[in-house]
Amino acid sequence: MITPEQILNAKILILEDDKASRLLLKSILQTSGFQNIHGLPNATRISNVYRSFKPDLLVLDLNMPRISGFDVMARLRRDYPDDYLPIVIISADSEDSIHLRALSAGAKDFLNKPYDRAKVIMRCRNIIETNLLHNAVKAQNVNLAQIIHERTAELHQSRLDVIRRLGYAAEYRDTDTGDHIVRMSRYCERLARALGMNEEECELILATSPLHDVGKIAIPDSILLKPGALTPEEIVVMHTHAEIGAEILSGGTSPFLKMAETVALTHHERWDGKGYPHGLKGEEIPLVGRICAISDIFDALTSERPYKKAWTFDASVKELKRMRGYHFDPKVLDAFINVIPDIKAISRDVNMPPHRPSRRQRVSLADSR
Ligand SMILES: [Fe+2]
Ligand SMILES: [Fe+2]
Repeated sequence: MITPEQILNAKILILEDDKASRLLLKSILQTSGFQNIHGLPNATRISNVYRSFKPDLLVLDLNMPRISGFDVMARLRRDYPDDYLPIVIISADSEDSIHLRALSAGAKDFLNKPYDRAKVIMRCRNIIETNLLHNAVKAQNVNLAQIIHERTAELHQSRLDVIRRLGYAAEYRDTDTGDHIVRMSRYCERLARALGMNEEECELILATSPLHDVGKIAIPDSILLKPGALTPEEIVVMHTHAEIGAEILSGGTSPFLKMAETVALTHHERWDGKGYPHGLKGEEIPLVGRICAISDIFDALTSERPYKKAWTFDASVKELKRMRGYHFDPKVLDAFINVIPDIKAISRDVNMPPHRPSRRQRVSLADSR
């Protein structure tokens, strides 16, 4: 709703080369209560004046030397394609063709010379009101877009939080903290970027990789928390976590759940085909599975677990390099090694103090869970 005060306070720009006509218009408007009127004798500075003054009404003469009213309208339409352009034309010409041409060029109404005081006021008032309404709707739309943007971001963040907590639930049982999935998922994202994956995929891998071990929910404590090496039977049970995790996450149609299922199912596959659960080989293993494998094992190496102490960063990098080409995809591993400074920074962000591994602790990764 536009108030009478808003209309009288509106900014009016009169672009008219004829001084007498300009002053007459100004006087008519002023005596009707309009207070904010600016006169301009020619259009040379119109773009600048329009930008800085932002008129709620532009009273525009069509017939001016050098830059005509038509030129002004063309320029304003080009420079302000989303504006209402509150233009009222001054015309001594009452020919329909001129009026039509002016309307199609962007004019909203006419003031015919000689001026009829009542018509001048009513027409100016109408255009001002429409322009103020247009601006109010525009501002409201910007506001709504901002609110939608904020709500969408909140929704996205809360979804990530819930997922991460689901990952924590599985993780909490064998590491006491959720640090592993925070680091591991950030390694995955950094590695995905290094491999040139697009923004959406990078965000998806960041969001889904925390769920890689969600199937551990189904593994008994006696196996999951066993401090020593697992027996062959226990290893078989332990390995079921990949398929159980995929089963928990299966059946979704969103890219998110599909990737989460793939991550859970394939993060223990090996490049040489000796991984589990399906013994996939080389590029049969989805790229996200190959990325998660490296990030997961690297973080497992640098972290303390019930069955091992934490390795130093350098010893862990060395171990990864040793597994290049048989455990890990060589290209993905090389990309990981190339971003080691970033990985180190992420690790420092959420890391515990590392220990040098003893010879006994250098367990084979076949025992890595
Ligand atoms: Fe796992
Ligand atoms: Fe893990």
